[in-house]
Amino acid sequence: MAVPFVEDWDLVQTLGEGAYGEVQLAVNRRTEEAVAVKKVDTARALDCPENIRKEICINKMLNHPNIVRFYGHRREGNIQYLFLEYCSGGELFDRIEPDVGMPEVDAHRFFLQLIAGVEYLHSIGITHRDIKPENLLLDDRDNLKLSDFGLATVYRHNGRERLLNKMCGTLPYVAPELLRRKEFRAEPVDIWSCGIVLVAMLAGELPWDQPADSCQEYCDWNEKKLYLTPWKKIDSIPLSLLNKILIEGPKARATISDIKKDRWFIYQFKKGVKRAWLSSGSPNESQGPFTKHIHSNVDLSHVSGLPWSEDQARYSSSQPEPRVALSSWDSNHSSIDNLVQGISFSQPTCTDHMLVSSQLQSTPGSSQSSWQRLVKRMTRFFTKLNAEQSYLALKDVCEKLGYTWKKSCNNQVTISTMDRRNNKLIFKANFIEMNERILVDFRLSKGDGLEFKRHFVGIRHKLSDIIYSQKILLPVT
Ligand code: ADE
Repeated sequence: MAVPFVEDWDLVQTLGEGAYGEVQLAVNRRTEEAVAVKKVDTARALDCPENIRKEICINKMLNHPNIVRFYGHRREGNIQYLFLEYCSGGELFDRIEPDVGMPEVDAHRFFLQLIAGVEYLHSIGITHRDIKPENLLLDDRDNLKLSDFGLATVYRHNGRERLLNKMCGTLPYVAPELLRRKEFRAEPVDIWSCGIVLVAMLAGELPWDQPADSCQEYCDWNEKKLYLTPWKKIDSIPLSLLNKILIEGPKARATISDIKKDRWFIYQFKKGVKRAWLSSGSPNESQGPFTKHIHSNVDLSHVSGLPWSEDQARYSSSQPEPRVALSSWDSNHSSIDNLVQGISFSQPTCTDHMLVSSQLQSTPGSSQSSWQRLVKRMTRFFTKLNAEQSYLALKDVCEKLGYTWKKSCNNQVTISTMDRRNNKLIFKANFIEMNERILVDFRLSKGDGLEFKRHFVGIRHKLSDIIYSQKILLPVT
């Protein structure tokens, strides 16, 4: 069941949604190219046409391996479509285990790539203004990509910097001066949010609701109570970097140039070695064998893939990485061109319906590529039950947990609750038949990504008896 989207293009899955509208995955039937399509309804808010114009304008300026690539846009009545690089690795927050975080070596690699992306943005005078794990996507090689420039703005033009005064961002990630001062500099605010992302990656929790004196956790940090959580979970070497980034005064806060000289930042992690320290050099340079082991408490047994020299090349900010989809687009971009310039197309009412078994199964003769197009999402599981029983089992658990349960459309339910910060949390569960098993796929709809993950883990735990644990059926995770 395929619905046409500009000739050869099928909309196969909803990737995400927000106040603006939603992002869908479009796959070219012939070439199998995949593109993320952000759909914005400009009639929703008065200032929307102006905002989307700015988002498009900023996207056009961007070209960096750690920033989601913009292919183009087109308008159909009130709807603007933005065509963006598809990041099959999903969102960074999906890699963060609630209250645990992720292996330090992974956090290190992602942080280096995040800083490379932010450094590039600042080099062209743009500030993102909403850096958080939900806006950090991963490609098929786990390269981090900054996404969603809906709040971004130009703060430096022709060498002249302007101060910002608009309060925007997400409270746990915003810098303290944004809540206190009428005007503030752009760069330190982005850098602060990178520090909070690092805490989330290393500890699996956010340090405070907001950086204000009314917030006890924030006061505790300023009073250096490092024996408290999340700080006690973080090793002293990355903690020393956080001590330089999460400084209240923006003037004293580490700049990107300071961060790039930091001891943890320039570490070289190597497979099979706990942690290694390089005495000098920038993180983009290959330094040869390392000299000294510092810690023995970091388990690197999970480290997969490339040796460190190649790994380093993967985040280099100066050398764009080879990109399969992009190179084919550069040399022969007719299919994505069609999508961008396109002819009118019809929209299914609920695109999730299109994610049916026929599209997911690996048929003889076909490669696994269409499977790999699916987002590498960890918030899902296969059940041992049929669709009806799976539905009832999830409903039962959700009701016991006091969640609000609403059937949204066929095979989909909307689950709402309040998170531990008393903020609204809404997520959706899709029941998808796949190889004669039921895949229950959860997606955040509104609220904090880490909290969503925490609630997902709770549900998964409660359903452990009915969850099919053999991994072979999972397409990509
Ligand atoms: N969700 C939002 N934007 C996306 C993109 N470009 N790729 C994958 N998932 C997304």
